[in-house]
Amino acid sequence: MKIFKDKHTLQKEISKTKGISFVPTMGGLHKGHISLIKRSKKNKFKTLVSIFVNPTQFNKKKDFRSYPRSTKKDLKKLKKLKVNYLYMPTFKDIYGFKPKEKVFLDKFSKKLCGKFRKGHFEGVLNVVNRFLEIIKPRYIFLGKKDYQQLYLIKKHIEKRKIKSKIIVCKTIRENNGVALSTRNSNLNDNQIKIASNIYYYLYKLKKRIKKNYNLFNLNRIKRDLRDLGANKIDYLENYNTKNFKKVKRQSKKFNIFIAYYIKNIRLIDNI
Ligand code: PAF
Repeated sequence: MKIFKDKHTLQKEISKTKGISFVPTMGGLHKGHISLIKRSKKNKFKTLVSIFVNPTQFNKKKDFRSYPRSTKKDLKKLKKLKVNYLYMPTFKDIYGFKPKEKVFLDKFSKKLCGKFRKGHFEGVLNVVNRFLEIIKPRYIFLGKKDYQQLYLIKKHIEKRKIKSKIIVCKTIRENNGVALSTRNSNLNDNQIKIASNIYYYLYKLKKRIKKNYNLFNLNRIKRDLRDLGANKIDYLENYNTKNFKKVKRQSKKFNIFIAYYIKNIRLIDNI
């Protein structure tokens, strides 16, 4: 595995290849990332993983500072997976130039997490736009766990006619149902149990409201979730996953989108 900290050296190297399959990450690699990387390695292009904890997508400095980092362990995992390239840029390498494309931010960025994490998606799109310009990947691998992020990156790529193709990958869950996330490493055993109970509650709720939407009583559901151990619920809303229209009545194709806290740890999921 070749490691790059500087975009010019990286670009020189990858210009010799037929194309790049790109897996962007902020490190803290878990089974979700590993499944993206394994999927990427199945195609004929070389796999490039980036690790960059992007400060512009954190709306609170404290959250940026406490974001779990595990570079040594990450390197071991990536080597084992026989990843071709790792890009670990500095802040200056990413933000020290003016990108050719302007970020396109779809209006859906104002909903869900966009309402509660001001500037978050601006930061995500900003960094992804820069990565796309530096790497010009054939494929970019993104998980459904961050569905809103995935949708907004898709809209940006379409609008700016960027040639990279998104490969959408399913959410990877632990056996207890909890969706893999770097932030899970901040949870203790009891908190994992709470997250698991909340997942199963929402999983069953979705089945029930598919049959009878009248059972979607938000106040009651929020009370149940608090009883299960959620401290604060930022949002709990149903959206059609194709067009992102809010679901208000009987429907088959929707996901329940949630962001909630267990103590001070914020978790998101869509089920
Ligand atoms: O999903 C993430 O880990 C990040 O938002 C991404 C796409 C790597 C951009 O920093």
